[in-house]
Amino acid sequence: MANQEILSKLNHVFNSRFGEPAFIARSPGRINLIGEHTDYNMGFVLPASIDKAIYIVIGERNDNRVHLVAADLGDSYETDLGSLHQSGKHWPDYVLGVVDQLQQAGHQLRGFNAALAGDVPLGAGLSSSAAVECATAFALDKLFNLGLDRKTMVQLSQKAENEFVGVKCGIMDQFASMFGRPEQLIRLDCRSLAYEYIPFPTKDIEILLLDTGVKHSLASSEYNLRRQECEEGVRIIAQQYPEVQSLRDATIAMVEQCLANGDSKVYRRCLYVVQEIKRLQDACMDLTANDLRSFGKKMFETHKGLSELYEVSCPEADALVSMAGKHDSVYGARMMGGGFGGCTINIVARGAADALVRELQPLYQQQFNRQLKAYKVRIDEGSSLVN
Ligand code: GLA
Repeated sequence: MANQEILSKLNHVFNSRFGEPAFIARSPGRINLIGEHTDYNMGFVLPASIDKAIYIVIGERNDNRVHLVAADLGDSYETDLGSLHQSGKHWPDYVLGVVDQLQQAGHQLRGFNAALAGDVPLGAGLSSSAAVECATAFALDKLFNLGLDRKTMVQLSQKAENEFVGVKCGIMDQFASMFGRPEQLIRLDCRSLAYEYIPFPTKDIEILLLDTGVKHSLASSEYNLRRQECEEGVRIIAQQYPEVQSLRDATIAMVEQCLANGDSKVYRRCLYVVQEIKRLQDACMDLTANDLRSFGKKMFETHKGLSELYEVSCPEADALVSMAGKHDSVYGARMMGGGFGGCTINIVARGAADALVRELQPLYQQQFNRQLKAYKVRIDEGSSLVN
């Protein structure tokens, strides 16, 4: 369901600046139930798109200019299709990166005007950046009749972030944003890109996100470093097991044998990833067996691994997960996404989320002197046009 308030704001902004738009597209943020930092290691992930999205209103121009407005930020940016480069102010780069990829792929674009806004909390680990990229790809595909399929748009959005923005992210966020379906999780094999939908009915549960409010400035450099540490582990394992091309191909026994006596960071990173790839597969069996308790237990285990072995958590997320874990109404909780702040995801018995938030808010305030924000989210459809 489109957010009408955002739509009317965007229409107004676009109209007063550029005149009649062609149409509006939207692409949502994402959650991930389990399978963290496994995507760039060619493992599996289990994300879903949520009922919070980035919207883009778009219209063609008669020249080669690109005029962008970020309605929420009250900011704008102009450039030329022939001379794309980083804007120096971040938000336009997610749009320009996609334009750049389309041009590199040989598509003939013309100039366009676009205004963006959304209700995906920014910097909260819900992939607002992937949502901007996917909304842009989706809108440009329609505007210029490029005939792209969703998978291609996902891949070029990821490449835009890798190459233009400079974050070496995996494919999960863009895939979830494009391919989401209501009440379904996506079990994605990040090596083959084969995927299946797994029903995740929320009749008896609520999906509660607790926002640490922490935005770590090191997040992207640490993220890229984790990637390198995993690659280093693969390089060492492959000396004895040449068939190992990514951590997806490695076993815990290989990690123990080849890495336990070397660099402790490389060892712990790789151990976590190999455990997590296996954990996700087991967790999917829990879902099939309708065993949410067992599924939730694995979410707590994932958190422990992310915190102690992969070292991408933060004291705020650790505290929230531990507080949530004391409640019987909470099936599972863990930090979500790249880490170093952002949200924890909590699977809570239906009806119990509000009381949990009321209880945790003062405790969090007391311990960290920060206000705890909470979002209840629903699993909704991926990228689409808005009527
Ligand atoms: C970020 C990245 C994803 C993925 C997660 C961790 O959200 O964009 O590709 O690696 O972190 O699972």
